[in-house]
Amino acid sequence: MKVVICIGSSCHLKGSRQIVERLQALVQEKGLEDKVELGGTFCMGDCVNGVNVTVDGVKHSVSPETVDAFFEKEILAKVQ
Ligand code: FES
Repeated sequence: MKVVICIGSSCHLKGSRQIVERLQALVQEKGLEDKVELGGTFCMGDCVNGVNVTVDGVKHSVSPETVDAFFEKEILAKVQ
Protein backbone atom coordinates (compact mmCIF):
# COMPACT_ATOMS: atom_id res chain seq x y z
CA MET A 1 0.00 0.00 0.00
CA LYS A 2 1.35 3.37 -0.96
CA VAL A 3 0.42 6.42 1.13
CA VAL A 4 1.49 9.81 -0.17
CA ILE A 5 1.17 12.97 1.88
CA CYS A 6 1.12 16.41 0.29
CA ILE A 7 3.93 18.54 1.67
CA GLY A 8 3.21 21.53 -0.55
CA SER A 9 3.19 24.90 1.19
CA SER A 10 -0.57 25.12 1.74
CA CYS A 11 -0.82 21.61 3.17
CA HIS A 12 2.33 22.22 5.18
CA LEU A 13 0.61 25.18 6.85
CA LYS A 14 -2.33 22.95 7.68
CA GLY A 15 -0.12 20.47 9.49
CA SER A 16 1.16 17.96 6.93
CA ARG A 17 4.38 17.50 8.88
CA GLN A 18 2.46 16.43 11.98
CA ILE A 19 0.45 14.07 9.81
CA VAL A 20 3.61 12.53 8.34
CA GLU A 21 5.11 12.07 11.80
CA ARG A 22 1.92 10.61 13.23
CA LEU A 23 1.49 8.19 10.33
CA GLN A 24 5.12 7.08 10.66
CA ALA A 25 4.57 6.43 14.36
CA LEU A 26 1.32 4.52 13.78
CA VAL A 27 2.81 2.40 11.00
CA GLN A 28 5.69 1.50 13.30
CA GLU A 29 3.42 0.85 16.26
CA LYS A 30 1.37 -1.62 14.23
CA GLY A 31 4.44 -3.21 12.60
CA LEU A 32 3.30 -2.30 9.10
CA GLU A 33 6.63 -1.07 7.79
CA ASP A 34 6.73 -3.88 5.19
CA LYS A 35 3.20 -3.24 3.99
CA VAL A 36 2.79 0.50 4.01
CA GLU A 37 5.07 2.75 2.05
CA LEU A 38 4.89 6.39 3.15
CA GLY A 39 5.92 9.12 0.77
CA GLY A 40 5.60 12.82 0.21
CA THR A 41 4.69 14.90 -2.78
CA PHE A 42 4.50 18.55 -3.64
CA CYS A 43 1.23 20.39 -4.24
CA MET A 44 -1.50 18.12 -5.60
CA GLY A 45 -3.43 21.10 -6.94
CA ASP A 46 -6.25 20.76 -4.44
CA CYS A 47 -5.09 22.99 -1.61
CA VAL A 48 -8.61 23.90 -0.40
CA ASN A 49 -9.15 20.32 0.68
CA GLY A 50 -5.72 19.87 2.29
CA VAL A 51 -4.04 18.23 3.89
CA ASN A 52 -4.32 15.84 0.96
CA VAL A 53 -3.21 12.25 1.44
CA THR A 54 -3.56 9.55 -1.22
CA VAL A 55 -3.90 5.85 -0.44
CA ASP A 56 -3.07 3.82 -3.54
CA GLY A 57 -3.99 6.84 -5.63
CA VAL A 58 -7.28 7.67 -3.88
CA LYS A 59 -7.26 11.14 -2.37
CA HIS A 60 -8.42 11.91 1.16
CA SER A 61 -8.61 15.11 3.15
CA VAL A 62 -6.83 14.70 6.49
CA SER A 63 -6.01 17.03 9.37
CA PRO A 64 -3.84 16.55 12.45
CA GLU A 65 -7.09 16.04 14.38
CA THR A 66 -8.42 13.32 12.08
CA VAL A 67 -5.19 11.49 11.27
CA ASP A 68 -5.75 8.69 13.80
CA ALA A 69 -9.25 7.96 12.52
CA PHE A 70 -7.99 8.17 8.95
CA PHE A 71 -5.23 5.67 9.72
CA GLU A 72 -7.66 3.19 11.22
CA LYS A 73 -10.26 3.45 8.51
CA GLU A 74 -8.22 3.84 5.36
CA ILE A 75 -4.94 2.13 6.20
CA LEU A 76 -5.23 -0.34 9.07
CA ALA A 77 -8.63 -1.69 7.99
CA LYS A 78 -7.52 -2.20 4.39
CA VAL A 79 -3.97 -3.39 4.70
CA GLN A 80 -4.60 -6.79 6.28
S1 FES B 1 -0.23 22.23 -1.08
FE1 FES B 1 -1.25 20.33 -0.85
S2 FES B 1 -2.66 20.36 -2.49
FE2 FES B 1 -1.64 22.23 -2.70
